[in-house]
Amino acid sequence: AQNPNAVSRKNSMGVNFSNDNELKAMAEAVNAHAGPWTATPLVPGAAAGNVTVPVTNPADRRQSLGSYLSADAATVDKALNNALAAQLGWDRLPAASRAAILEHAADLLEARRGEFIALCVREAGKNLPDAIAEIREAADFLRYYAAMARRLFGQPEQLPGPTGESNQLFLNGRGVFVCISPWNFPLAIFLGQVSAALAAGNAVIAKPAEQTSLIGYLAVKLLHEAGVPAEVLQFVPGDGAVVGVALTKDPRVSGVAFTGSTDTAWAINRALAARNAPIAALIAETGGQNAMIADSSALPEQIVKDVMASSFQSAGQRCSAARVLFVQDDIADKVVAMLAGAMAELEVGDPGLLSTDLGPVIDEDALKILVDHAARMDREAKKIAEVTLDPARTEHGSFFAPRAYEIASLDVLQREIFGPVLHVIRWKANDLAGVVAQINAAGYGLTLGIHSRINDTVDYLATHTRVGNCYVNRNQIGAVVGVQPFGGENLSGTGPKAGGPHYLLRFATERTLTINT
Ligand code: NAD
Ligand code: ALA
Repeated sequence: AQNPNAVSRKNSMGVNFSNDNELKAMAEAVNAHAGPWTATPLVPGAAAGNVTVPVTNPADRRQSLGSYLSADAATVDKALNNALAAQLGWDRLPAASRAAILEHAADLLEARRGEFIALCVREAGKNLPDAIAEIREAADFLRYYAAMARRLFGQPEQLPGPTGESNQLFLNGRGVFVCISPWNFPLAIFLGQVSAALAAGNAVIAKPAEQTSLIGYLAVKLLHEAGVPAEVLQFVPGDGAVVGVALTKDPRVSGVAFTGSTDTAWAINRALAARNAPIAALIAETGGQNAMIADSSALPEQIVKDVMASSFQSAGQRCSAARVLFVQDDIADKVVAMLAGAMAELEVGDPGLLSTDLGPVIDEDALKILVDHAARMDREAKKIAEVTLDPARTEHGSFFAPRAYEIASLDVLQREIFGPVLHVIRWKANDLAGVVAQINAAGYGLTLGIHSRINDTVDYLATHTRVGNCYVNRNQIGAVVGVQPFGGENLSGTGPKAGGPHYLLRFATERTLTINT
């Protein structure tokens, strides 16, 4: 059946990697931008008084990219007052006018993608395909939420008036929305949250992840150029523990859109609840302990291809990534041997080179967590494979060698492991229920991959696991805006799904107007 909420819109175009001319044009556009870059808070009327933070390339820490100014308490306060004063005017604009600005921003973003790709590679350590996908997803979010704003906010809904009254239902912005984003999708998630909040009529304070403040700054400048007033969208970079806390405990805030770890979502939930203020909306999209389940009817070649993409693409730094492969014991030896062979082909190094499969992990803190986890797995689990790093390509950056381990059960993993580490668990044909029980007991609920050619098995798994995004006989990453609305449940988030038809509603408040005619 036709989805009544479907909007007419095309997804952003990519680059054809087998076309030399396209590749050359892209390389020229990217190489034209080598920095240095600077970012400052974008808060009209704020006095200087912010701290300079240097930014370096995670693939080579000797390379300075520039710096950003972290917002101080007075800047945060000024941003909140500006936003409060500006919100009503923005909300009163016709939804079509807000939508047109977002669409213009999408066009500008695509026209200028060279600099954004350059920064995604250099500041966030993304390889070129991931950096291009990032720009496309960001453009998709801008256009999708623009189209949704026209549809949902364009005119009030006329309701029945059985007693002769006129009844109308309006959607309005909630007020001041704080958008707090992670470093792993520094443009797509950053702009996705911001454009949704703007589309719904909110004034927005955008706090990027500290690791990717330069990209966030460039994105906000772009939206200003497209027509969003400076007081309606402000940029407030800085530490989560300082700037993020100052924003989320403030009573002037009506809503928070957060994407990041489950721990931080809990902290924000507590901060909002502790305020002596109207109850704020919280949209939290968080981590996962995602599984892929393969039974013996599946093709080992396809399982391995899809688990390689799901676990190692983006250096495993995707919330959607497969952390655990449950493989039926009849085919486990074959799959494990093929997996080790495929991992031996992985190229780890400079993310700016087309030959690179995995770039660096984001920083030394992330690297330490992965190294500590690998040390524990080395002691407690059976190693399947570990990629050998070439010191000449990796010694100056935060690089981690992809690894795979065989473990006994999901209980062994106490938390999300955010990087290129795959865990393999064997299961017996009569114990599908045991696999489901392990996945549900972990408490997360983001993505699930299923590899099976038995319809009953697919149905059973898809209906008994509590996950937000389930993929069958393919990889489980790279949800497309408007096609696979994305987001989890339980410890993985509150919903509604980003890039889906219900997302904007959470940024809005509903009002009725009844007129006795
Ligand atoms: P993080 O929670 O450390 O930080 C995310 C953001 O929160 C940053 O901007 C940070 O500065 C801010 N922050 C930190 N502490 C804060 C506090 N006390 N109050 C307010 N803000 C605070 O997460 P990260 O390391 O940047 O990102 C990786 C995590 O994000 C992983 O867990 C990953 O699974 C998750 N993620 C989820 C999705 C999704 O859609 N579900 C998408 C991408 C990433
Ligand atoms: N939306 C991203 C994905 O699906 C996180 O991989």
